[in-house]
Formats: sequence, C-alpha cells, structure tokens
Amino acid sequence: MVDFSGDPSARGFYAPLRFEADLHDCQVEGTLPAALDGTFYRSCVDRRYPPRVANDIPYNADGAIDMFRFRDGHVDFRSRYVRTPRYVAERRERRALFGAYRNKYTNDPLATDLSMNTANTTPIVHAGKLFAMKESSPPMLLDPHTLRTIEEHDFGGRLGATSFTAHPKIDPTTGEMIAFSYEAKGDLSDDLAVHFFTPDGTLTRSVWLKCPVVSMMHDFMITQTHVILPTTGMVTSEARLLAGENHWAYDPAVPGYVGILPRDGTTQDVRWFQGPPDRAMLIHATNARTEGNKVILDAPVARGNFNPQFPNADGSPFDHEARKNTVRRWTFDLATGAWDEEILFPGVTPTSFTRMDDRFITKAFRWSFNLLTDTALPWDEARAGPLGSQWNAWYRFDHLHGTYEKCSAGPTHTLLEPQFVPRGADAPEGDGYVIGVANNLATMASELVVVDAVDFAAGPIARVKLPFRLHMQVHGWWVSSADLPFDFGRDYDYDGPQYL
Ligand SMILES: [Fe+2]
Repeated sequence: MVDFSGDPSARGFYAPLRFEADLHDCQVEGTLPAALDGTFYRSCVDRRYPPRVANDIPYNADGAIDMFRFRDGHVDFRSRYVRTPRYVAERRERRALFGAYRNKYTNDPLATDLSMNTANTTPIVHAGKLFAMKESSPPMLLDPHTLRTIEEHDFGGRLGATSFTAHPKIDPTTGEMIAFSYEAKGDLSDDLAVHFFTPDGTLTRSVWLKCPVVSMMHDFMITQTHVILPTTGMVTSEARLLAGENHWAYDPAVPGYVGILPRDGTTQDVRWFQGPPDRAMLIHATNARTEGNKVILDAPVARGNFNPQFPNADGSPFDHEARKNTVRRWTFDLATGAWDEEILFPGVTPTSFTRMDDRFITKAFRWSFNLLTDTALPWDEARAGPLGSQWNAWYRFDHLHGTYEKCSAGPTHTLLEPQFVPRGADAPEGDGYVIGVANNLATMASELVVVDAVDFAAGPIARVKLPFRLHMQVHGWWVSSADLPFDFGRDYDYDGPQYL
C-alpha cells in the first residue's frame, strides 16, 4: 500500500508527485526573449514509495529530471524519473528497499547487490551527453531529448571510483570537464580522485589523493591552473552506520581543510591548507581564480552545521545562527601558506545556492545570483501561510563593489535556484536573463519565471505557467541550442512512458 501519511516531510510542495508529464506549448504570460533558445534541466527529488525508515531526509528521495525547452517564445515541458537500479527494483517490488541516507546496513536484503544511486542532485550536459548526478554514485546517463535513462555510466570503464561529484566543472575556455570523487573507494574511505576530461567527454586522467578527514565534499572549484578541494565538518563512522543513522553528523571540532592541486599536477603536488572549524562548511562556491601565487575563491560559508537533518556529533542542539552563510573571499597564498578571509557582504545571509555567468568560471568576475529568505519583501501570509525559512528572493550580488539588488516572483511565491542565461554568446558578463522555478503557495502551482538580469529589481518579465506543482528542485542547468542542438518538437516526440 502506498501511504505517505506517516511521512511528515511529504507535505505541500514536498509531497511526492509520482507522475511524469509532457506539456506541449506551455502557457506563457509576458514575452519570452529570443535569447532563450535552449534547454533548462532541473534535478528534483520525488519519492516513488514512502521511506523505509522514520524521519528519512529529502536528499534520499528518488531523482527526477524536468526539461523546459525554449525557442521563439514557446516552451515545451517534460518530466521523467531517472531509472536508477534502485528506482527499478523498488518499482518492481512496489515498496522502498533502501533505508537511511547512504547507509547500506539499513537496506532490505533485496537491495544488497544494487547501486544506491538516487541521481537526484544535478543535471549536467557535457559533450552532448546529459548526466543526472549524485555525489555518492557514478552519474546516470540520459538521452538529452527524451530523458530516457540509458545507464549508470563509468566513462567506458575508466572511472575507477565508486562515487562522482554532483558538481563537475566545465572550463569555458577549453571545454574540458573536471570532476572529483570522495569516499572514492567506498564508504568511509579517505580516498579522493580528481578526474580530467577532454572537451569530447573522454576521461583521460585521474589523480588519486588522500584526504586529511573523511567528510562530505559537496562542491569544488577550478581555476585556469588549479583544482580546489574543500572538506567539511560533516563526518561519518562505521559505528554511526551500524547504529542505523544516516551517513553524516557534524563535528564542530573538525578544522576546515582545502586541498589545492595544480591542474597539470600529480598526487605529490597537492597542498592542504588547514583552517579553523568555522571554515569547514563550504557547500557551494561561486567562483575561483589564480592570480600569481594566490588562489582566490568567493563562496557562501556557514560557521557551523548547515543542516538540522544531520545532527551534531557531540549531541549539542542545532545552532540556527551558526547555519547562516556569509559570502567570504578566501585567498590562499601558495608562497607563504597563508589562508586569509574577507567578508564580502556583511549582514547578508544568503543560502548556499550561488550561481553566476558560467562563461566566467575560472576568471575574474563581478556578478553572482543567490536564493534567500528576505522578510523585508512583501509577503501575503493570509493567502500563502507563514514565510518561515522558505526562500522568497533572488539577489544579484556585485562582487566588485559589495552591493546587491533583489527581486521576488510575487507575495505568494517561493523561489528555487536561479539560473543565468547570457543574452548572446558574446554578451558581456551578467548581460542576460535569470530563470528559475517559483512555487505559488496560494494556488499550489509552479511557474518558471524570467528576470532581465540587467533590470533585476523589476522582477519577472515573463512566466511559464504550469497547471500543477512541480517536484522540489535541487539544482538546474542551462544549455543553449548552439551547444545542444534540437529540432523543436520533433527530436523528442512523445516516446511513451519508460516502463522497466
Ligand atoms: Fe549542490
């Protein structure tokens, strides 16, 4: 029996959808700019079955991919579950087989030999291939037009790691992709691998490292010459897993470590910087660059545990102040070993959902876009309920001048991660549009909203209105039609549900 009434997290926009959709020529309010010619993918969480353990966390839900395809002011929409081995097995058994988050000891015996991949974090297109990523597993390869699942991918047998980050980076200058694996030889291993791909998607080289601490490593950064690998204070242990807990607990005593590896370096060339524990909670970074002997990165970083779903290892209560991020600029001096810190926007507490104009990854940059809770913006509590800690604002940060602008999608709308789309291939940095999904709590329906990034505070200039609510998104990805050509409405004609 499928009954989510015992799952307290399955409420509102977090309630599972459990269906797949195709909408041809969606309703649009306003005018979609001609620059929106391409595909916006979203990775979402959407449980097919009620969780096997009490208080399971959303990160453990099945992955689904949404696709908005834009051309000439029109939009088509498609959603599909990712057919992971886990999804397929649970669908066959009509119940959850996998237990606590990344804890094999809590799985049903039928799941013993199966991949635990949920593929629920990030969609990425590189070399014409669409991947659905989860940091604890290899990527799932999908058809970028139909969203049909192809396989759990090991890059032609070259991926000698059990995991693969959900945040690979593509160098906009060279087209190369760089990625990493942590716990790369299985749960609790201190092995770290950095993978280098040619522009055509071939994995040519992996550099294997040892981590100073086995911890969550959700994101990393690249510059034109370096790879930057931050650890976090989110740690794990065999005892924790044997006790049936989810994978992570936060240890406030663990220092922040950042490994810096030259892109052309080998194992012995990595250099680990050690900082205090209040530098151990970088979840997503905005951008990084190398200037002479200095490696510089900007990122929202919390002082402590960022997520109450992962308890404090010392049993202390969750600290809601310490979870707040500030945007920090870290400078690593490769000559002196110094690690300096500067706060860029004092008093502003953004989420870790930081995005930028991806054409400027590895380079000096000015603009970033973030998702926040802003109680100063109008909020219609009578129609939408309390705002609480829901996100109702996008901010555009000016990293050169320390200023920012904000916008919202309306007084009953929450927002999800912003995605920047350039106005054209040669447009200046930040000249384009910010798109993303808004959830209207008054109507319980979702919209994709479009904001002109240069006239940011004016808010949405167009809305793609869906007749239902969408699953909750983690991350999104834009790919232009120049980088992923499609024949609008023909390449991906309805091919039927993918029953497995
Ligand atoms: Fe992420």
